[in-house]
Amino acid sequence: MTDNNPLAIIVLAAGQGTRMKSRLPKVLHPIGGRPLVGHVLATARRLGAAHIEVVVRHERDRVVAALQEEYPDAIIVDQDEVPGTGRAVQLAVDALPADFSGDVLILSGDVPLLDAETLQALVEGHRAASAAATVLSARLDDPTGYGRVIRDGEGAVERIVEQKDASDAEAAVSEINAGVYVFRATSLRAVVPQLTQDNAQGELYLTDVIGLLRRAQERVAAELAPDPAAAFGVNDRVQLAEAGRVLNDRIVRRWQREGVTIVDPATTWIDDTATLSPDVTILPNTHILRATTVAAGATIGPDTSLVDCEVGEDAVVRRTDATLAVIGARATVGPFAYLRAGTVLADDGKIGTYVETKNAQIGAGSKVPHLSYIGDTTIGERVNIGAGAITANYDDLAKHRTEIGDEVHTGSHNVFVAPVRIGDGAKTGAGAVVRKDVPAGALALTVAPQRNVEGWVENNRAGTGAAEAAARARAAEKADDGSQEEDR
Ligand code: UD1
Ligand code: CA
Repeated sequence: MTDNNPLAIIVLAAGQGTRMKSRLPKVLHPIGGRPLVGHVLATARRLGAAHIEVVVRHERDRVVAALQEEYPDAIIVDQDEVPGTGRAVQLAVDALPADFSGDVLILSGDVPLLDAETLQALVEGHRAASAAATVLSARLDDPTGYGRVIRDGEGAVERIVEQKDASDAEAAVSEINAGVYVFRATSLRAVVPQLTQDNAQGELYLTDVIGLLRRAQERVAAELAPDPAAAFGVNDRVQLAEAGRVLNDRIVRRWQREGVTIVDPATTWIDDTATLSPDVTILPNTHILRATTVAAGATIGPDTSLVDCEVGEDAVVRRTDATLAVIGARATVGPFAYLRAGTVLADDGKIGTYVETKNAQIGAGSKVPHLSYIGDTTIGERVNIGAGAITANYDDLAKHRTEIGDEVHTGSHNVFVAPVRIGDGAKTGAGAVVRKDVPAGALALTVAPQRNVEGWVENNRAGTGAAEAAARARAAEKADDGSQEEDR
């Protein structure tokens, strides 16, 4: 937007959101990996505004803290005890520079699905029509709960009436106020002081500004949102889920158009904050959340959840729960793997079935294929960890590391009692409990040699099925020996 007609944006986020029945302020409830108000600010930021203000009151510090990280440039305006969207705007307008004379775009922190293109068109239409105010409206099959846009005999916008103040005839109007408006700053300043609390909710309604401007002979317009879903407001948990679904559908379609195969959009959830690449395949029941990135050619799912993960090219991740993990190119993970924070699986590596990892660096081409817990561990390259390995990293006081070199092969069912080091090329026997470092190239055996007590079952369990089976086996062995002698 040009500097000779600057834009200020006011985001309303001070309400409690009573209908959510929640400890969390409504505008902080997330969809698609961001709080509702975060979506509004992300869109606002794309409009090139000179000022962005956010009005807060309920759980003020929590809302401010949630915004500060991603939107440190937003100006915080504190609403006082006077309730209503009109009060929020009175205070926000006062907080703008006194000489600000551009346009003011007002957004609701609980209307998360509006896109920048729709808002841009709203502002442009407003300017082209030289209107004092332009309301974004939408036609909804079920307008319940929204303010209705009331037009006069000529079809011009006359006023907005809230559901709770509407007559039956007014409530039957299907054109609703999306809670989004653009005002000429001078016109808005002139009428906001005139708002009163004379209504069903005893609040200062921002919506009354429209009627006031009309009475002052100002030009007021309404623009229908091209996509009514974009005007969707979230007041309760039913609407929260509906908005989340609409957003997810949009995200899924966006990635499909970018070359991602998504087999079942209905059970695939992708946060707005995640990044996919062409030729990624997402199988059903898969959640790609937060800052997760997936490189080209990777296959994720079914039944997989990735939170803040990085997946390399052509990797395959099946039936896996992973958080803050890095999975290298061509690596395979799962089925039934649990990757916790700090797992780094290098290229061509494998984390297999029923394996839990935490704070574990697993080198290129190394494999942890079956039934293992690998925590606080460094594993070199081309290592094979036998089935059922446990790194005993915790001695009830502190966590210790297990360090395994390159080209190590460990036997099945090993326990590595950390801190412990296994040198390059070393091997360990089945069932080893490794308490001491193993030098490079050594074979570590910790299990006592096996001793067989011959005939124990026939001597101590005579008459049992086991004893009979053993007797038959021994008879067969004898007969076999005899026939071998005859052959000679
Ligand atoms: C509001 C509109 C309604 C419109 C609907 C669209 C008014 C009076 N009504 O109704 O015409 O159809 O939005 O979604 O404006 N807020 C404040 N301070 C307050 C009260 C609310 O900042 O004192 C904020 C809320 O945090 C919220 C937004 O304003 O983000 C809207 O408030 P809400 O109470 O949800 O208004 P609705 O009843 O939905
Ligand atoms: Ca609302």
